[in-house]
Amino acid sequence: MGISYKCHGMLGNPGRFSIQGRAESTGPTRIIQSRSHVPNKEGIYLPTKAAGLLHPLQGTDSSWREHDMAEFSIRRYKSSDYDTVRLIFAQGMMEQLPATSFYLLKLPQIQVLLFIPFITLYLLSKSYTFSFGSLALLMATGWYGMKSIFSQYVNKCHRADLLDIEKSYMMANNSCFWVAESEGRVIGMVGIQPTQDSKDAMVLRRLSVASEQRVRGIGKALCMKAIDFARQRGYRRVNLDTSMIQRAAHRLYEGMGFEKTNVKIAPGITTRFTNFSVFYYTYWIE
Ligand SMILES: CC(C)(COP(=O)(O)OP(=O)(O)OC[C@H]1O[C@@H](n2cnc3c(N)ncnc32)[C@H](O)[C@@H]1OP(=O)(O)O)[C@@H](O)C(=O)NCCC(=O)NCCS
Repeated sequence: MGISYKCHGMLGNPGRFSIQGRAESTGPTRIIQSRSHVPNKEGIYLPTKAAGLLHPLQGTDSSWREHDMAEFSIRRYKSSDYDTVRLIFAQGMMEQLPATSFYLLKLPQIQVLLFIPFITLYLLSKSYTFSFGSLALLMATGWYGMKSIFSQYVNKCHRADLLDIEKSYMMANNSCFWVAESEGRVIGMVGIQPTQDSKDAMVLRRLSVASEQRVRGIGKALCMKAIDFARQRGYRRVNLDTSMIQRAAHRLYEGMGFEKTNVKIAPGITTRFTNFSVFYYTYWIE
C-alpha cells in the first residue's frame, strides 16, 4: 500500500506548515504535522530552521511554488528503481565532501600540517608565489584524496546491501526498503533491517533524498514509514548512525524525537587524528 503526501503551507493555511498523508487504499487518512513555520517577506511559508539554506528561490517565483507543491508518494522498492536508488545514495554521500573539507580546515592540527610545509618552503625559496602555489597543490591533493575515500565508501556500500536490494531488504518479513516518488520519478529512499545485536531493535539505513527535493518533508515521511514498520512488527527501538557533518540529518532526526545516545570517533588513524565522529541515534517506539 502506498501513501501519498501533499505539501501544504506554502500557499495553504497561514501559520502552519503540514504534510498530509492519505492512505491510497484501505488505510485511514493520516496527517503528519510538523512545527510552526514563519512566512518570509513575500508571505511564503518556509521551514523556519531551513529558511535561506535550501530555498535559494525565495520570492514570488510561481514555478518554484508549483514545483514545491507537487505530491509525492512512498512505496515499496521494486527492481526498476535499482539504478536511481544507487545514484541518489552516491550523490547524498559525495555531497558531504565540502562540509568535511571545511570541518578539517578549521582543525588546528590540520592548520599546523599545512603551515609547516608552507613556512619551510618559504624559508627555502623566499618566494610567496612558490609557497602559496605549493600550499594550493597540497590542498588540492588533499581534496582528491578525500574524494577518493568518499568514492571508496560509496563503492563499499554499493557492493554491500545496495548490491542486491531485493535480497537485502525485500525478502524477509522483518526488513523493507521504500522509495519516495514524485511525478513518476524516484526522489528518495530508506531501508530498515533488524539489528544483529538486539532482538527488540531495528536499524534505519540509507536515508537519502534527491538534493533538489529537500526540505519538503520527504525525509521525515520516509523515516515515519520505517518507524511504523518497526512498530507494526513489535520492535521497541529504531537505531541509526550518521556522521558528525551530516547536519541536515541531525536536524531531521532530533526534530522527529530520535535521541542521540552516543558519539564515537570513527575507526581509523585519520579519523582519530581529526576527531571525526559518528553520532548514534535511537527512536523509542511507544
Ligand atoms: C537528511 C535528508 C534525508 C533530509 O531530507 P529532507 O527531505 O530534506 O528532510 P525533511 O524535509 O523531511 O526535513 C525534516 C526536518 O529537518 C529540517 N531540515 C532538513 N534539512 C535541513 C537543513 N539543510 N538545514 C536545516 N534544517 C533542515 C527541516 O526543516 C525539517 O524540520 P521540521 O520538521 O522542524 O520542519 C537530506 O538532507 C539528505 O538526503 N541528505 C544527504 C544524505 C544524508 O545525509 N542522509 C542521512 C544519512 S544518516
